[in-house]
Amino acid sequence: MASAKESGPGREDKDPADQNFDYMFKLLIIGNSSVGKTSFLFRYTDDSFSSAFVSTVGIDFKVKTIYRNDKRIKLQIWDTAGQERYRTITTAYYRGAMGFLLIYDITSQESFVAVQDWGTQIKTYSWDNHTLVLVGNKLDMEAERKVPTEDAQRLATELGFQFFEASAKESINVKQVFETIVDVICDKMNESINGDSSPLANHKAAGLKDTPRGIQGGCAC
Ligand code: GTP
Ligand code: MG
Repeated sequence: MASAKESGPGREDKDPADQNFDYMFKLLIIGNSSVGKTSFLFRYTDDSFSSAFVSTVGIDFKVKTIYRNDKRIKLQIWDTAGQERYRTITTAYYRGAMGFLLIYDITSQESFVAVQDWGTQIKTYSWDNHTLVLVGNKLDMEAERKVPTEDAQRLATELGFQFFEASAKESINVKQVFETIVDVICDKMNESINGDSSPLANHKAAGLKDTPRGIQGGCAC
């Protein structure tokens, strides 16, 4: 498995031991094998892409710290194996995740059909008030598209998910997906802080448990 510690530019922002942040969010990437979950993560954290397919074994994570509205937000991003044989291991990590990136491949109808099942898995194993973004990856392979944008948009609307088409290879919409999920989590935190009795109050507590500063007032993300 790749290490969460990476060398190269921006290293200080990827150091898992870095305690200099305002909030920490745990995110999970799920979806069928070979849809591009690991590629999506590497594009986001390292701005790199490889056309070689090295199927993920079990689970791995990377850390990236970003700035949103003057807040330093540390993202702990878990990359799960899509292969069925690892399902018991990977679902154990759903609990505690504040956000999910559910990825399918626009050139694979099978990976899109599986979105419903992944949604059920999330409902079964995760917290209730999570944020979910549906991502149709491999947008650069338009000529081989099997999943019409409208079908995916319709499903996302039905299930109440945000929806993007993206390409880890061509770096299309990768950053936008992560920024959207962070913004939605921040909005929910603000609502939770203002309302306080919602289940997200627990998410907030768990998500921020090792932050250097506690929440005082709103998230202001
Ligand atoms: P598992 O670890 O088995 O669950 O697979 P995964 O979802 O992590 O897939 P991975 O990121 O390893 O990518 C699978 C293959 O698709 C690799 O050969 C990648 O190079 C390729 N791939 C990933 N993203 C893209 C993309 O946006 N466009 C194209 N053309 N190929 C991609
Ligand atoms: Mg992988």
